[in-house]
Formats: sequence, C-alpha cells, structure tokens
Amino acid sequence: INDSRIAAERLLTWYDHHRRDLPWRSRPGEEADPYRVWLSEIMLQQTTVPAAAPYFRNFTERWPTVRDLASAPLDDVLVAWAGLGYYARARNLYKCAQVVAGELGGRFPDTEAGLLELPGVGAYTAAAITSIAFGRKATVVDGNVERVIARVFAVEEPLPNVKPKLKALAATLTPDARPGDYAQAMMDLGATVCTPRKPKCMLCPWAEWCAARAAGIQEELPRKAAK
Ligand code: ADE
Repeated sequence: INDSRIAAERLLTWYDHHRRDLPWRSRPGEEADPYRVWLSEIMLQQTTVPAAAPYFRNFTERWPTVRDLASAPLDDVLVAWAGLGYYARARNLYKCAQVVAGELGGRFPDTEAGLLELPGVGAYTAAAITSIAFGRKATVVDGNVERVIARVFAVEEPLPNVKPKLKALAATLTPDARPGDYAQAMMDLGATVCTPRKPKCMLCPWAEWCAARAAGIQEELPRKAAK
C-alpha cells in the first residue's frame, strides 16, 4: 500500500456497505456509549461475536449503566457471566465498574493513558474504547488486525515477536477520520474476508494492494514461530 489515505477511504466505504449490525454498535450518526463499548470489548476478548451477543443483551438490559453494574452484588454479575468462562475477567469487569462509578463519577476516561489505569483494561481495550466510544484516533490491534496487516504488507517474520512491527505498520494506515468505524472495519475485514483459511480476496477492498496476495502466500501469513 503506498497511499494510506486512499486505502483507509476504500476500507471505510467497504464498511459502509458491509458493516455487521451488532448489538453493541451504535447506528451511524448515533453517539456511542463508552459503557457499552467497554463491556462488549471485554466480552469479545473472551469469546466469539455470536456467543457474546446474548450475554451483552442480558447485561445491558439488567444493568443499563456502569453505575447499575457497580451496585449489583458481585455474585449476580458472576452468575450472569457464567458460560463466558475465565472468571478473573468478570471480577476485573466488576472492579472496573466500581472504580468508574465510585471514583470517576460514572464516566470512563477518554484517553488511552487514562483507560489503561482501569482494572482489566489493556492496550487493546484502551485503543478500542478511545476510537469507538470517543472518536479519537488510536490503533486497535487484535488477532484479526494482525492477520490483515501481515498480509497486506507481506510480513514474513513469525508471531509473536513480530507483533510490535505489525502494530507500527497498522498505525501507518490508521486515518484521522472516523477512527471508530475504521477500527471496526479492520475487525470485520479480518473476521469475514481476510479469514485464516481461504481468505475471500475477491471481496477484499484492499486486494489490488495486498503484497501477500501478489506473491500467492496470503494463506501462509501470518507465520507462527515453531514451539
Ligand atoms: N471483536 C472485538 N471487538 C469487536 C467489535 N467491536 N466488532 C466486531 N468484532 C469485534
């Protein structure tokens, strides 16, 4: 890719036509709710989109705001979480709700540095909330995004050591405009088009610029270090 601005625009246009309607996504033009973005991103680190959706609906019906979640008994939250697995995450979720409701007046921090201070919020979640909930530029990198980036730039070095390089390359493509849509477009591209097996390059808005496709090695990337 030699013009990142045009690449970002092409991806956003693709997203406008193919965006998945997911329960935590606000409609175009609607203001995002940081609580819903945070909750969904924590759930999605744990499980797939279809598995997370009913949990997300149940949580947000029972506890529509972070204050509601913070005032629920911990046991109720753990029971509602059951099936998502990994209880440490649910405990951190609850702890984070207490901090936001108790110390921050119910408002999530709107910077990556502020978000990183919260229990259970790492680099991925902080960047996702910054861009999706607050519309500020941040580079969101999960496994899907790593795969897309490794392929468009034909990065041959193996995971996990190549992660910082993939993040730096991802940052060079991130536009100033529509950061939240761009982040979710990257996730959708990785989940639905640039899939681990049999990527659907015919449907990809970046196909003409993809270095892995040009070399015929798209399905081999990203490589993984031998264990
Ligand atoms: N996976 C993690 N976060 C996501 C999001 N916001 N949309 C779709 N898939 C995701």
